[in-house]
Amino acid sequence: MFVVVLGVPDSEGGPGVLQGASCSQSLPIDRSLGRDAYHIHILDLTNAPLIGTIGAAPFTGRLFMLKRPLVDRRKFLASSAGAMGAAFFGGGPLDALTNQIAQTQSRTWDAGQVRHLLPTVSESRILLKVSFEQALSAAPSLRIGASSFPGRMNDTGGRFWQFYVTDLDAGATHSLSLVAANGSSLCEPWTLSTFPPADARPDRFRLLFFTCAGGPEGTYTGIGQRRGNLPTAIRNRLLRRGLSFNPNAAVANGDHIYWDLHQWSGQLTGGLSARARISNFEFSGSVFGTSNETALMLAAGPQIVPVYGTDFRSTPVFFLQDDHDHWENDAAGAFPIAWFQLQLARATQQLYYPEFLPDANRPFGLPWSSSSDRGDLSESFGTIRYGSLAEVLLYDVRRTMTLGPSAVFVDSNVEEWLLARTTAPGVRHVVHAPSNPFGWSAGKWGEWYPDVLDSAAATLTTAVPKPYWQDGWLRQHDRLVDAMSGMRARTPLIVSGDLHAIGAGTMHRSGTLDIAANPVTTVLSGPVGTAPGGFPSVVRGVGSSPSSHLDLDQTVPPIEQHGFTLVDFLPDRIVLSLFRWDVNSQPIEAIDSLEPFYTTELSTR
Ligand SMILES: [Fe+2]
Repeated sequence: MFVVVLGVPDSEGGPGVLQGASCSQSLPIDRSLGRDAYHIHILDLTNAPLIGTIGAAPFTGRLFMLKRPLVDRRKFLASSAGAMGAAFFGGGPLDALTNQIAQTQSRTWDAGQVRHLLPTVSESRILLKVSFEQALSAAPSLRIGASSFPGRMNDTGGRFWQFYVTDLDAGATHSLSLVAANGSSLCEPWTLSTFPPADARPDRFRLLFFTCAGGPEGTYTGIGQRRGNLPTAIRNRLLRRGLSFNPNAAVANGDHIYWDLHQWSGQLTGGLSARARISNFEFSGSVFGTSNETALMLAAGPQIVPVYGTDFRSTPVFFLQDDHDHWENDAAGAFPIAWFQLQLARATQQLYYPEFLPDANRPFGLPWSSSSDRGDLSESFGTIRYGSLAEVLLYDVRRTMTLGPSAVFVDSNVEEWLLARTTAPGVRHVVHAPSNPFGWSAGKWGEWYPDVLDSAAATLTTAVPKPYWQDGWLRQHDRLVDAMSGMRARTPLIVSGDLHAIGAGTMHRSGTLDIAANPVTTVLSGPVGTAPGGFPSVVRGVGSSPSSHLDLDQTVPPIEQHGFTLVDFLPDRIVLSLFRWDVNSQPIEAIDSLEPFYTTELSTR
């Protein structure tokens, strides 16, 4: 079988050990990569000798994922989901990953039984998504001050829970603790602040943006030596660098997982992907309470849990979903999404990261918004309201995109909300955070823009129609841009996701719309986990380009590296700080001292 092990040379000089669910074998390891190299090894133990062949340095590693099950996966999952779960979740192997190849960090906070924890807040509410090392048979509670709030189980096994609390004091730092039904602590207490009330006038608000943090575990053995998506520990390290600047909140803008269930290009387009065959989902079955639930966790968990862990426990997060979060790539035919993948998307969200809390200025009745025993939640449309200083409008276009003569990306009620908030008084800065990028095209189908790849000319063009692309999407784009530019007392800003690049530009024209009097700044927030083959210039042979629909002044032409963006909101300006890390030329340690490579101030009138 194939197993994946990870580790670093054992400085104590002890025997190398490969530990797995059912094996513990001596394993010498190649030390030629260097004492401080971080590496993950994929080993074929089917035929290979178990006692090693590579180098002489001692090694400690742990099995954490079966790459090729030796049995039919559906039968395997149905018959041994518990055993698989125990191997996968119970042994803490992902913690080992984080501990061993991530940066050395302060161990001042004890995560206890908590495997991952992602909070979100509004001015008066808190929502936590938590998974534990072991299933809990009775509901744990969240304690805030002297009050106790029971958790709600979000899976069917008792490992995933949420905690939803309302009527909290605004702009206050709350002390939180998680307690098991028997009264024992599940982790060390920590603090989390609610946002200031909508009429408060804070001096500053700092927001961290990034995109594309998903992807199965990749390998990294040194500068320029990597395969697949970045190892999750490196993604975590990039995010920790972002957190070191003490943002008040973070926006994870789409593509938290990559596990597309169908082929999206080539002769086999529409057929099951290799990952779909591995997962062996029952497409006509429900997600929860079946082997589908375990298969979902096996696919999604390793892409999310080690990337975030508990590092964001005091930093509210806002997770937008995009194409890959619906378990498909952006391709004609994949969207509007099929029912089963939609349920997978919703279940992933329910288990791992918070939905959006309600806001006084966002209608309750928008699509994918509901009141239930899980609380008042929106799955696709969110608001970050930080006093009267800033309001960020978050919108996922994949759930409501339509085709045909009335095609839109977002439902008409969503558009009304966006236009109303864009033009509303009473907020100093209004920012759009759509899941799809404004400004640039990568030639993909589900973009605002008609630009498509001309393979022969190796360029993007609008001279030929983009198959199945809808011009209604672009008309909606122009209505939104028109509204943004029309607010002359503000500096319009869009910070988007999806596109695997870091960039910034200023739109002066959109189609026939002259917006030069108050141009719209658009930012590509930066990808965190992208694989070499995920960058546009590799996928299509052409990098991202300004859409020909626009006049776009590229202040930072798209850079295909990993990175993130910090946005500081102040009463008289917005400060953009763009960060990048080049996996092909910089050592891992450089992440810990990253500084912005580009900073600009957007003054308001
Ligand atoms: Fe995407």
